[in-house]
Amino acid sequence: LFMSDLSEFNVLEQQIKDTLNLEHVIITPGNSDEHALVKQELGKTAVDYLHSILVSNQTVAVTGGTSMTAVAEMMRPSNHAVNCLFVPARGGLGERVENQANTICAEMAKKANGDYRLLYVPDPLSEDTYQSIIEEPSVKEILHNIRQANVVVHGIGDALTMAKRRKASEEVLHKIQSGNAVSEAFGYYFDDTGEVIHKVRTVGMQLEDLSKIKSVIAVAGGKSKAKAIHSYFKQGKSSVLITDEAAAKELIKGF
Ligand code: BG6
Repeated sequence: LFMSDLSEFNVLEQQIKDTLNLEHVIITPGNSDEHALVKQELGKTAVDYLHSILVSNQTVAVTGGTSMTAVAEMMRPSNHAVNCLFVPARGGLGERVENQANTICAEMAKKANGDYRLLYVPDPLSEDTYQSIIEEPSVKEILHNIRQANVVVHGIGDALTMAKRRKASEEVLHKIQSGNAVSEAFGYYFDDTGEVIHKVRTVGMQLEDLSKIKSVIAVAGGKSKAKAIHSYFKQGKSSVLITDEAAAKELIKGF
C-alpha cells in the first residue's frame, strides 16, 4: 500500500460518506470476492473501529454471515472496554451454523473477554410459534438485552444470493425476484429505493429499532456487493460503512 493509495482511499471515503450520508466510511485495499485475506482485513478493520468506540459495560449486537465471521476471527480484547455483553441481533434466518449470529456472537465475546447471551428460536418461525415464543421468560430476557444494544455490527448481502443461501421457498424467491429486491440485511430484503420487499419472520431487532442505536456499523465488501450496499443505505439506518476498494470503486460509478 503506497501513499498515493492512501490519499486515493481518503477521497473515495469522503465521496461515499457524503453521498450516502454516513458518519464514517473506511476502505480496505483489494476485493473480498476474490481473496479471503481481503475479507480478513475487512474484519480486522471492523474490530479496530469497534474498539475505538466501545466503552465498558456496553452491549454489542451482531448478525451472521461470512463478513461477520471474519470480524469474529479477528476479534481481540479491548484495552479499555471491559464487561461488554455480546448478543445476536435477530433469531435464526436460515443460515448454516458457522454463519449464524449465535455462533459469531459467542466467538466474539470469548475473544473480547466479554459475556454473551444466545437466542434460540426455531427457524423459520410460524406466526403461532412467534406469538408464544416471545412470551417465554428466557426469550423475553434476551430480547430485552438486544433492545438495549449500544452498538450493532452487521453484514449486507445481495438479495438473491442471500435468499438462495438460506434456502428460501419458491414463493419467497418469487416475491424477491418480482419485487426486484437488491439487498438484504437483518433478514429484510430491500429494492433499489430502499423499500422493504420481504422480511423473514423471527424475533429480535427490528429495522425501526436501529434508529435508536447510536453506532450501527455495516461490514460489507467485494465488487459484487456494490449494488446491495447502495440499496441498503437508501433507507439509511446505519451510520458507519466498512468496505473494500473493489466495492467502493464500483459503488461510486452508480452515484
Ligand atoms: C447475514 C446478515 O447473516 O449476513 C445479513 O444477517 C447479511 O444481514 C449477510 O446480508 C451477509 O453475508 P456475507 O456472507 O455476505 O457477509
